[in-house]
Amino acid sequence: MSYKVMTAEEAATFINNGDIIGFSGFTPAGAPKAVPTAIAKRAEQLHAEGKEFKIGMYTGASTSDALDGALARANAVLFRTPYQSNKDMRTRLNAQEAHYFDMHLSHEAQELRYGFLPKPKFAIVEACDLTDDGEIVPTSGVGVVPTICRLADKIIVELNASAPKELRGIHDIYEPCDPPCREAIPVYHVSDRCGSDCIKVDPKKILCVVHTDIPNGSGKFAPVDDVTAKIGANVAKFLEDEIHAGRIPKEFLPIQSGVGNIANAVLGSLGENPHIPPFEMYTEVIQDAVIGLMKEGRVKFASGCSLTVSQPVLDEVFADLDFFKKHIVLRPQEISNNPEVARRLGLITINTALEADIFGNVNSTHVLGSKMMNGIGGSCDFTRNAYISIFTTPSTAKDGKISSIVPQVSHLDQSEHSVKVLVTEHGVADLRGKSPIERAHIIIDNCVAPDYRDMLRRYLESAPKAHTPMNIYTCFEMHKAFAETGDMHNAKL
Ligand code: COA
Repeated sequence: MSYKVMTAEEAATFINNGDIIGFSGFTPAGAPKAVPTAIAKRAEQLHAEGKEFKIGMYTGASTSDALDGALARANAVLFRTPYQSNKDMRTRLNAQEAHYFDMHLSHEAQELRYGFLPKPKFAIVEACDLTDDGEIVPTSGVGVVPTICRLADKIIVELNASAPKELRGIHDIYEPCDPPCREAIPVYHVSDRCGSDCIKVDPKKILCVVHTDIPNGSGKFAPVDDVTAKIGANVAKFLEDEIHAGRIPKEFLPIQSGVGNIANAVLGSLGENPHIPPFEMYTEVIQDAVIGLMKEGRVKFASGCSLTVSQPVLDEVFADLDFFKKHIVLRPQEISNNPEVARRLGLITINTALEADIFGNVNSTHVLGSKMMNGIGGSCDFTRNAYISIFTTPSTAKDGKISSIVPQVSHLDQSEHSVKVLVTEHGVADLRGKSPIERAHIIIDNCVAPDYRDMLRRYLESAPKAHTPMNIYTCFEMHKAFAETGDMHNAKL
């Protein structure tokens, strides 16, 4: 190989205070690990010498502890976008020690190209293969890597031996032209390919190569419990009924399923339901449940941006790449989450709310209205453009002291106009074609935990009669009660 080979520590010396870096990957999948940790160490050393050192960072979405965690702990982050889920990063940005702006994942690459966001100086990307003529083959996650590689002045490649070179062929790398020259994205079926199997860059831009063999280290999902099993069963029964009613074609439609434990459990339930035919997925993250269902023939094909699976499941995929390359395609997030494609394919989207209100507005990001949890990720990309959009949430959080359904969401991510169905362990609220007051009754009766129902009914009665009844004096009483007493049951409603 004609590139300079360096250690992660040597590569990190290229990075200086104020530099803006685009990182590859999407979740720990495909994110570089050695160089970011070395940059964090460099930051700590420079801070100890009394020097300033912070970087601006673009990622695909959340990354690994070796990237987000290490840089956050070193207090080395000037700004960051988009989705994150690392607890140390969350602490920094909630303490206003790092600027964080959340954005729709499908927007990131184009906003970089449009110049809405400052250009990255470096791209630091993980690859399973790299050729002398500048072909970079990503590993198990793609994210914004084609765009950051094109825009960055210099590229540092982490060549990770823990990901087999034979992954080449699983990716479909396509970057649309920008307006006024953009054309239709030629993805008409979930499994369509329209791009190339690698990212092509000018080899002169490759500053150095760092060899690693660090695995993704993705954590395991929480086991399915009674609540998540009931949510999953409710979603599956709803979709089964929709097929019978002829509102979903009998051959079914592709599924998009969100991130986290609940999404993983819901997918498992869909797979187990004998009335739901084998299905395809056009989604963002391919989680553990998908791989299991694929082996059973329940998932026919999955298009995603990353293989966000636990290490044992990733090892299974790597061990049988001939099979999985025929059933999986990994795309840049601009395409995996593309509204045009989502609407065309007619996705059934299933995402998770932290809280919803009685009118169907959803907050997926801000605890008690102000503390950032993770970010919107691709939830809005999919929800707004779905064939039918479903939100799931356990009816309560924190041992029942929080009702996930409140009079008014404390932060808005998805509006009542985009959310068509709300599902908790207690049941399903089908909000289609319903006025706000009808929605409020259905949500309270079907989805709210029994011990919070009367409280919400009293709230609704206390609100002046109007199209969307709202009592501006008491709509946050439940949040206030939690903030003051640690229990929403104490709300004065
Ligand atoms: N108020 C305060 N905290 C709440 C809450 C509420 N209304 N509802 C849930 N929580 C807490 C839980 O107690 C839990 O806390 P813990 O980590 O201290 O145990 C935490 O939020 C996560 O909840 P959990 O039930 O484990 O859900 P999850 O792992 O399924 O994640 C989201 C849920 C909403 C955080 C996650 O789906 C997300 O980040 N969504 C936004 C992005 C998205 O939808 N992406 C998919 C598009 S492809």
